[in-house]
Order: sequence, then structure tokens, then C-alpha cells
Amino acid sequence: MCFSEILIQKIKTANRIAVLTGAGISAESGVPTFRGKDGLWKKFRPEELATYEAFMRNPNLVWEWYNYRRKIISEVNPNPGHFALASMERLVPEFFLITQNVDGLHQRAGSLNVLELHGNIMRSRCVKCGKKSCTVNIEEKGEIPRCECGGLMGPDVVWFGEMLPQDVLRNAFNAAEKCDIFFSIGTSTVVQPAASLPMVAKRTGAFVVEINVEPTVISENVDETLIGMSGKILPKLLKKVWDIDISK
Ligand code: OAD
Repeated sequence: MCFSEILIQKIKTANRIAVLTGAGISAESGVPTFRGKDGLWKKFRPEELATYEAFMRNPNLVWEWYNYRRKIISEVNPNPGHFALASMERLVPEFFLITQNVDGLHQRAGSLNVLELHGNIMRSRCVKCGKKSCTVNIEEKGEIPRCECGGLMGPDVVWFGEMLPQDVLRNAFNAAEKCDIFFSIGTSTVVQPAASLPMVAKRTGAFVVEINVEPTVISENVDETLIGMSGKILPKLLKKVWDIDISK
């Protein structure tokens, strides 16, 4: 992998770096993406599984689907891409990690400040009063847990048609507007509002870099596209810029 001299210089002199990650960064850990070759939305219909209406229609089916994904996530580990970003956070004066992922793998790799735009699948949330709970028993069968208020507990993730957590979203847009470099990693950049972040960063003067195994809808508008797996590219970038070898 060849990095341009301008990218290396920009990273070395950057005060603020913002990163947006999507399902692709966890693909090498064994978590399925949504729109890739074996993507979840190629096999399942989001409107039957990932909406409030779907949950109210058939809570058991939806609960089962999230438990299936929770089981996959609980059995995998962060990969070198996650670890490289956790290291970067400690090397750059101000670092903002914005993720669309709900798998918690960034935190497990050691990232400290993660802006979770779409929630976290390992938590649950009452669909009636919104109260959150951090304990989810994935082996639980039968009755769906209920909140003290009597409402059913669903996963603490943003469903289609729902608003994103507004404070997190505001922080993400602030980070995109203020950063010197913006990385868009492992995301198809088609789901709004997250998909706007790279172009907001570009408009406000950031150098925008994309890392993906294939070109995406934003590739033509970014400053640099690095084609390849994030779990390979990010550790190489860390080595090149800071001479840090995370495989040791
Ligand atoms: P997608 O599945 O839409 O896109 C994953 C991207 O990762 C694709 O562009 C792949 O080419 C790329 N990719 C795959 N493997 C990679 C690797 N090893 N290294 C780098 N890139 C790789 O996933 P997202 O963009 O995250 O929403 O999807 C956005 C949202 O759509 C998700 O957060 C989810 C979904 O519906 C909610 O759950 C609310």
C-alpha cells in the first residue's frame, strides 16, 4: 500500500482527526456487513426486522434476530483496524471516532471516546419510556423482558425511520466541521444522516480520505481513496506515520 506524501504530512501536522466507521471495519472480525456480498440486507428485509412497526407486530422474531447478531458479536474479537484506531486516539491531539456500528468492537479494542450514532446492540431500551438497560441475556428464550413501566424491551439501536440520538449526532457534525482530516472507513455511505459527514468535512476544509475494499458513492469527491481492507491499511498507516507496530 502506497500512501501519498501529502496524506502523511497532513496526518503528522493535524490537530484534529475525525473518523467515521461502518460495518466494513468489523468485517475482518467476522461480523457480517449490510450491503456487501454476503450482507444482511441481501438475505433479510429490514422492514421486517429493523423498524418499530416490525417489533410491535412480531416482537419475538425481532428479538430473535437481534439475539442472533448479539451471539455473533459476542464470539468475535476486534481486528487490527479497530486496534489501529484505538492507538491513533492516543497519538493525535484531538481525535473523534464516530461509528455507525452497534457491535462495541471499537471500545473492546481500547477506543475511549466513541460516538455511537446507531446505538449499541448489547444494551436494550424500553420501546415505551426509552429507559436503557445494559444487561441483555442472549440465551434468554420465551418471554421478552419488560421495563418497570410495563413496556417491552427492544435493542438499544436506531431503527429505520427513527431519529438518531441528537446529542451524539450534534457532536459528530461538530467533529466533521472542525477536523483537519476526515477518514471514512468501511462504510457504503448511503445511510443518512451519517453519509453526509464526509462531505460536511470536505466543505469545511478537511482533507477527506476513504478506506474501503471498493469504490463507493463518495469516492469521486474525496481527496484520497485507499482501496483495500481496513484491518491491513490502518496498521500500515500507523507504522508509516508514527513508526508504531501494533502487531507486536
Ligand atoms: P454497509 O454494509 O452498507 O457497507 C459496508 C462497507 O464496507 C461496504 O462499502 C464494503 O465495501 C466495505 N467493506 C467490507 N469489508 C471491508 C474491509 N475489510 N475493509 C474496508 N471496507 C470494507 O455498512 P454501513 O455503511 O455501516 O444501520 O451501513 C450503514 C447502516 O446501514 C448501518 O449502521 C445499519 C445499516 O442498516 C442501522 O443499523 C441503523
